[in-house]
Amino acid sequence: MKHLMSPLDLSLEELDQLLDLAGDIEKNPTKYAHACEGKKLATLFYEPSTRTRLSHEAAMLNLGGSIMGFSSANSSSAAKGETVSDTVQTVGCYADIIAMRHPKEGAPMVAAKRSPIPIINAGDGGHHHPTQTLTDLLTIRSLKGRLDNLTIGLCGDLKFGRTVHSLIQAMSRYENVNFILISPEELRLPSFIRVDVLEKNNIPYKEVVTLEDAMAELDILYMTRVQKERFFNEEDYIRMKDFYILDNAKMELAKEDMFVLHPLPRVNEIAVEVDDDPRAAYFRQVQYGVYVRMALILTLLDIHVA
Ligand code: CP
Repeated sequence: MKHLMSPLDLSLEELDQLLDLAGDIEKNPTKYAHACEGKKLATLFYEPSTRTRLSHEAAMLNLGGSIMGFSSANSSSAAKGETVSDTVQTVGCYADIIAMRHPKEGAPMVAAKRSPIPIINAGDGGHHHPTQTLTDLLTIRSLKGRLDNLTIGLCGDLKFGRTVHSLIQAMSRYENVNFILISPEELRLPSFIRVDVLEKNNIPYKEVVTLEDAMAELDILYMTRVQKERFFNEEDYIRMKDFYILDNAKMELAKEDMFVLHPLPRVNEIAVEVDDDPRAAYFRQVQYGVYVRMALILTLLDIHVA
């Protein structure tokens, strides 16, 4: 049985097939409308979410399947001390596939060891968020027509941002990809990505502090939120939270064919005025997230539509 724990669980060939399937789903949604009839998705969310939970649910509903689940630990028996292993063995009696988000790094991996059904890691602490990465890859490929020969700027909380860590790992597998890491000193990319992924694989990158230092070079700007929930100290969060604000003046420094992505939710880091810029692609990215999760559910359930 296959689970999805990290974006690197898929070979480049499998990833291409998944993105191609997502592209076909986008073009021919009715072809897939009954593909998962009789199948059930359980969303087990121990941490808040809007997009990841609802897009998995939308994906299963679009495929003709059904959904069940909980949206907080407090509304499940986790509040009584039940382990994730016991929970997935229970849910395996009700559902065919699970999407799990958990604040503890590695929790979905622990769950997968005992699960009788496929598990999708829907985000584990500061570790991985593979379905966001699949969304990001599909968005970039759809907008730019390629996943190689790109300069990608990643801006904001590069220390705790699991979407950033997963995206760097995934994009590092393509030819001629450069990264510009835009963060304050306190939120720099941690060494398990900077050294172990970028430096060990000779992938070019540079670190800058201001957006202005990067904008003109970028093909993709990936903005991220400073995540209040990852800080131990409120003072540090307040000091960092408005460090970056992308506005129309900064967008003027960028190429005509640069695109702005953001995993969302945003707080203040992208001014609302930028939403009207045709290069603002973060809500299109949300829609791609549904197509790619449809493709992932079909793939993990080994369902093929002729
Ligand atoms: N992008 C993302 O993970 O959003 P949610 O936290 O709303 O699921």
